Amino acid sequence: MPNPSILILPGDGIGPEVMAEVRKIIAWFGDKRGLRFDVSEDLVGGAAYDKHRLPLADETMAKAQEVDAVLLGAVGGPAYDGLDFSVKPERGLLRLRKEMDLYSNLRPAQCFDALADFSSLKKDIVAGLDIMIVRELTSGVYFGEPRGIIEEGNERVGINTQRYTESEIERAARSAFELAMRRGKKVCSMEKANVMESGILWREVVTRVGKDYPEVGLSHMYADNGAMQLVRAPKQFDVILTDNLFGDILSDCAAMLTGSLGMLPSASLGAPMENGRPKALYEPVHGSAPDIAGQGKANPIACILSFAMALRYSFDQGAEADRLEAAVEKVLADGVRTADLLASEGVEPVSTSQMGDAVITALDASI
Ligand code: NAD
Ligand code: IPM
Ligand code: MN
Repeated sequence: MPNPSILILPGDGIGPEVMAEVRKIIAWFGDKRGLRFDVSEDLVGGAAYDKHRLPLADETMAKAQEVDAVLLGAVGGPAYDGLDFSVKPERGLLRLRKEMDLYSNLRPAQCFDALADFSSLKKDIVAGLDIMIVRELTSGVYFGEPRGIIEEGNERVGINTQRYTESEIERAARSAFELAMRRGKKVCSMEKANVMESGILWREVVTRVGKDYPEVGLSHMYADNGAMQLVRAPKQFDVILTDNLFGDILSDCAAMLTGSLGMLPSASLGAPMENGRPKALYEPVHGSAPDIAGQGKANPIACILSFAMALRYSFDQGAEADRLEAAVEKVLADGVRTADLLASEGVEPVSTSQMGDAVITALDASI
């Protein structure tokens, strides 16, 4: 059997910095656990634009379709802000999601005990938090037609369209219910059925799918109330199911419950391939962080935990994923902090690579 294959797309800004730490972790699993991967690397985002004048070359897209998992750092940055919309770095990421048909984006928000003090919310609100946001990722206003900027009379009009088919809602809902069955058996679906027809259809379809999962408690919430409830009492939730745009916003909001955006991993999953595993792309929820790029300050944990999700969802290595997550937890419990996680004065921050090394040391101690 060939080794499982991974395509690494480090991207821009802090993307390559955090991905360098994941490469160390991948090498560790090869050396110490006999888990060998065929790793290749390519360009995405601004880095791809610099070489190809495109944010994702066709050859890279083709490679992404063939591998067992794609790991992506982050894309974008001020150097590319002025580019034509069609070649902006973010379009490369959106093309990957759309063409790989990665409709289910899992964004877990877990508050590690060692960081409960550090959240911008009170400790008892976030301590022990473990929620999963399931964000529909290939449709909605991100992709709906018509779209564009058009002339109308003597002014321009910016247009985007929120559009959801029943089958798109259904498959995202199914993945949320399946996850809930393996977790706390609760799904809260968030839309705005009070003002949007797509929200009315969303609620109807989710309710119908829910009938196939009688053990799962289903509730519905308007997304604006959902945002408020996420900061008021986040532990009321188990799985949150929501659309592409609301999911983008709500997951950044959930990030702060865990202490930092630098902590949040994600898995973007599609339909099962011939081998039974889903097509998959793993990436941190954060972006390229231009304000700290190139300074060795970035927190690599979101990217490292994204690789843990790859071990779990693409490589059937749940126990090794647990090992990696436990190593991260140990490092945090030992007080190792990148600058974004500094809770108290007098604690010296570690660099991106020192954080990666600390995780390796904790992994070594685990065997
Ligand atoms: P961002 O997530 O890059 O940064 C927001 C804030 O969080 C910044 O202050 C940053 O320093 C901090 N931060 C983010 N990740 C961190 C980490 N790992 N460690 C420590 N601090 C971290 O969001 P932004 O500034 O709004 O966007 C910058 C660029 O990134 C834009 O071009 C945007 O389109 C892009 N972006 C890409 C992705 C992605 O590739 N998936 C996601 C979000 C934003
Ligand atoms: C994310 C990002 C992306 C999104 C951008 C970079 C296309 O914010 O992954 O959360 O809006 O989906
Ligand atoms: Mn986002």
